[in-house]
Amino acid sequence: MIPKARVVIPSPPLSLLLIFLLFFSSANAAAFNNLTTIPFNDGYSPLFGDSNVVRSPDGNGVRLNLDRFSGSGFVSSNMYKYGFFSARIKLPSAYTAGICVAFYTSNGDVFEKTHDELDFEFLGNIPGKPWRFQTNLYGNGSTHRGREERYRLWFDPSKEFHRYSILWTAKNIIFYIDEVPIREVIRNEEMGADYPSKPMSLYATIWDASDWATSGGKYKVNYKYAPFVSEYKDLAIEGCSVNPIQELSGGDACSEKLDKLEAQDYATVTPRRRLAMRRFRQRFMYYSYCYDTLRYPISPPECVIDPAERMRFKDTGRLRFGGSHRRHSKLRSRTSTPVVEDDQAD
Ligand SMILES: *[C@@H]1O[C@H](CO)[C@@H](O)[C@H](O)[C@H]1NC(C)=O
Ligand SMILES: *[C@@H]1O[C@H](CO)[C@@H](O)[C@H](O)[C@H]1NC(C)=O
Repeated sequence: MIPKARVVIPSPPLSLLLIFLLFFSSANAAAFNNLTTIPFNDGYSPLFGDSNVVRSPDGNGVRLNLDRFSGSGFVSSNMYKYGFFSARIKLPSAYTAGICVAFYTSNGDVFEKTHDELDFEFLGNIPGKPWRFQTNLYGNGSTHRGREERYRLWFDPSKEFHRYSILWTAKNIIFYIDEVPIREVIRNEEMGADYPSKPMSLYATIWDASDWATSGGKYKVNYKYAPFVSEYKDLAIEGCSVNPIQELSGGDACSEKLDKLEAQDYATVTPRRRLAMRRFRQRFMYYSYCYDTLRYPISPPECVIDPAERMRFKDTGRLRFGGSHRRHSKLRSRTSTPVVEDDQAD
């Protein structure tokens, strides 16, 4: 029997939150002010639910709708081996239980059995509770080894646009929200092929994930509130665009672009950013696979175990996870894992 676990999130006093916000707003913004944006019409195309993919009048941005007939999604026209993938996103407002809004890189359409993936997944909310989201990665089809972390946000993501970014290099992966790095995965030899290593495209989707997204599936999508709309603008990709098949046979026209990528300001977690990351994780992370001993009696090799975090997470048990996005459209995930309702205690 696996005991039912609770996820307890302490509410920090308001004064701490204010200090925190001040700290974040003064974090170095320069890294994100000069990104190479690619207008939607020039670099992306609908993935599914075409009639629910609505371009902005200027062709730069796009809206993805979910209604009772279909979700929707888009994908970048090019694939990249190593890159920085970024967009300003505004999530659906009001009642959004059961909805998954994903912003991710993948190559599941090319490498069906051995795909790589890096994810932001927003998991809907119930009225009066904050949005929650997770990050995750897969490499070479490691879909049975999820590496999820779950968090709350320090703002309401449905009110304004915020920038969400994924950096992927040969050395590290960094997930950013605005200028705050929230997670860094440093490549570890022992991860082997679990570290994403084949060219990936950028994807964004919105879909019905009623059976797992919100409180482990307790709250479903309510189509009375449809359509649910997620908006994207200032889409930016920097890195080396490659043909995935040629790449596998060993082209290396990329080295200059990759040197440039690694030299970008956002490719380094400076001491100042590391502090912001630590604060974010202390206050807003409420689940990490690294401390889920029910799932991983021995934590995966890239995990850096922090004794204080281990204490904080000792009671977290299994959450319900949605798995990889290759079944993003209308298919529902099947899972028989015991479910924890990761309701928040605040
Ligand atoms: C902005 O990017 C362009 C093109 O990459 C570069 O030439 C320019 O120097 C950059 N400006 C700043 C202020 O970094
Ligand atoms: C990726 O997975 C495939 C199929 O399981 C395997 O044949 C291949 O060797 C793996 N690649 C690496 C780099 O481990």
